[in-house]
Amino acid sequence: MSDKEKLYEGKAKILYKGPRPDTIIQYFKDDATAFNNVKKGTIAGKGIINNKITELVMTRLSQIGIPTHFIERLSDREQLIYEVEIIPLEVIVRNTVAGTMTKTFGIEEGTRLPRPIIEFSLKDDDLGDPLIPENHVLVLGIAEEYEVIEIMEMTSKINDFLRGFFAGIGIELIDFKLEFGRLDDGNDGHFLVLADEFSPDNCRLWDFETGEKMDKDRFRRDLGGEVEAYQEVARRLGVSLELEDPKAEDEE
Ligand code: C5P
Repeated sequence: MSDKEKLYEGKAKILYKGPRPDTIIQYFKDDATAFNNVKKGTIAGKGIINNKITELVMTRLSQIGIPTHFIERLSDREQLIYEVEIIPLEVIVRNTVAGTMTKTFGIEEGTRLPRPIIEFSLKDDDLGDPLIPENHVLVLGIAEEYEVIEIMEMTSKINDFLRGFFAGIGIELIDFKLEFGRLDDGNDGHFLVLADEFSPDNCRLWDFETGEKMDKDRFRRDLGGEVEAYQEVARRLGVSLELEDPKAEDEE
């Protein structure tokens, strides 16, 4: 697959030029990073799992009326997506206190919030993805006011749906990160779509019965068993991990 034109290589994914001008091929790697690239490693088979979980989640979300950049899964590690202009915000939803919120506010991990919090971080590795208030987003021209409203509405709807979706398989959705992009409407305008991915790399998932962590925190905190945890999330979601191409186990 080396004949594809590489557009960008990120920490967990590579973007290649797609077969049509408005499309991109998103390739999922096994590389894992944490703490803004300070910790690096690999989780064997993660790219395959995240590709397939993202396919399922994006498909379900589009069925409930959330527009997404997802077109179709192409192979074990690749999916075809629409090219969008990414809004440089990490949209984070918190249902239960964990991670940064524990550290910043000194609240015990696992404290359930009376209602979900949606917060924004500026997507900028050099600055360490700082938390950014909505006012700054507007004044700095990162997004328009109507876009922020739409992002909040879509994010709320996504959270309501996904909490129930994961609860149905015995998993508590603690928090997660979303990214949105502007998709050209072919008429000199654009509309917002959910972009990037949804996988155990960018959410916290705890087993309802045991409290066991089933997400990237296993890697971040050296808990071990990350491959098994990702596989278990896929198994419960009914995502088949049978390879279409045995060579997919080896990364490009
Ligand atoms: O680290 P923090 O507690 O702010 O993370 C909140 C949620 O957002 C977690 O599920 C984490 O995996 C996700 N996140 C992410 N990418 C980032 C920052 C956070 O996927 N750069």
